[in-house]
Amino acid sequence: MIRLLLAESGWRVVNIDKLTYAGNLESLAEVNVAEKQRYVFSRTDICDATALSQLFAQYRPAGIIHLAAESHVDRSISGPAEFIQTNLVGTFTLLEAARAYWDTLAVEEKAGFRFHHVSTDEVFGSLGETGCFTEATAYQPHSPYSASKAGSDHLVRAWRHTYGLPTLITNCSNNYGPFQFPEKLIPLMIHNALRGKPLPVYGRGDNVRDWLYVDDHARALRLVFENGLPDETYNIGGCSEKTNLEVVDMICDLLDDLHPCADGRSYREQKTFVADRPGHDWRYAIDAGKIERELGWKPRESFETGLRKTVEWYLAHSDWVAHVISGEYRNWIELNYGNRETM
Ligand code: TYD
Repeated sequence: MIRLLLAESGWRVVNIDKLTYAGNLESLAEVNVAEKQRYVFSRTDICDATALSQLFAQYRPAGIIHLAAESHVDRSISGPAEFIQTNLVGTFTLLEAARAYWDTLAVEEKAGFRFHHVSTDEVFGSLGETGCFTEATAYQPHSPYSASKAGSDHLVRAWRHTYGLPTLITNCSNNYGPFQFPEKLIPLMIHNALRGKPLPVYGRGDNVRDWLYVDDHARALRLVFENGLPDETYNIGGCSEKTNLEVVDMICDLLDDLHPCADGRSYREQKTFVADRPGHDWRYAIDAGKIERELGWKPRESFETGLRKTVEWYLAHSDWVAHVISGEYRNWIELNYGNRETM
């Protein structure tokens, strides 16, 4: 998001990040000197009300794009507390700091201000074989993660309804692409494959996700932030439904092509079926018709083109991956997957 705003718009960006396990400032290393003039970084926790009000007073933002969240479902199952803290208490604290600042603005600035909350399609629960989530689908979150995001969406709507804060919400499908922390399915599989490790497919691998290339998502967020109507919600999806097994097989085939194993075997041989995630949502799929009709957005990447770019990026950026994988992450993986039974 920050790379896109700096490269393609005139916005000045204040990046607020607590830099927890998945945060890595190296992800912005490619930002050039001219773009850096419009960029400020503050290591701040969104639960820190005092620090937030200082930042609002100092930088006087025209709007906020709120992407700060704990986002990994498996982590929310083994340790939900952080999800309640960052996603619920953090969103509440940010809303309150934004409201206090917004109250001080002149009428015109007030009307132009935007609080854009970036959320997930997982708030809608799980689909059967057919149908898609629309903006009108009722909320039915299942995991501690999705429940915490659903709660934060409700807080944002309440701040609009009660205080008049001009809010926007977007709910996106599964993101993938460069710079993604290797706990999520796609970078995890690329990472494990290249290191000769098992590729852990949960259950039978027939759960379905609707994959959205990260740059397509960032373009959609910019459009909504700049042109979306206050109070509105927009669903953002990649129109790329795949079973997990299809995704893993496609990654293996791309690696067989781009980085073949020395001994001639296929990476597919590393696939391992492991015990299913508790409460594993069956299928997610987004109807992105509203953002297409109202704001003219469409994904540019198909899953095939986006996945190839992603695999190529990870092959060319092994340093980034090595740096982002901290000891803490390795311990977590051992703890959670070391003892998983193979089905
Ligand atoms: P994930 O990237 O964790 O996203 P989410 O749970 O938010 O959809 O997982 C995507 C899908 O891949 C999900 O159905 C769980 C599955 N999965 C595996 O089969 N193995 C894995 O090691 C991981 C991380 C996920």
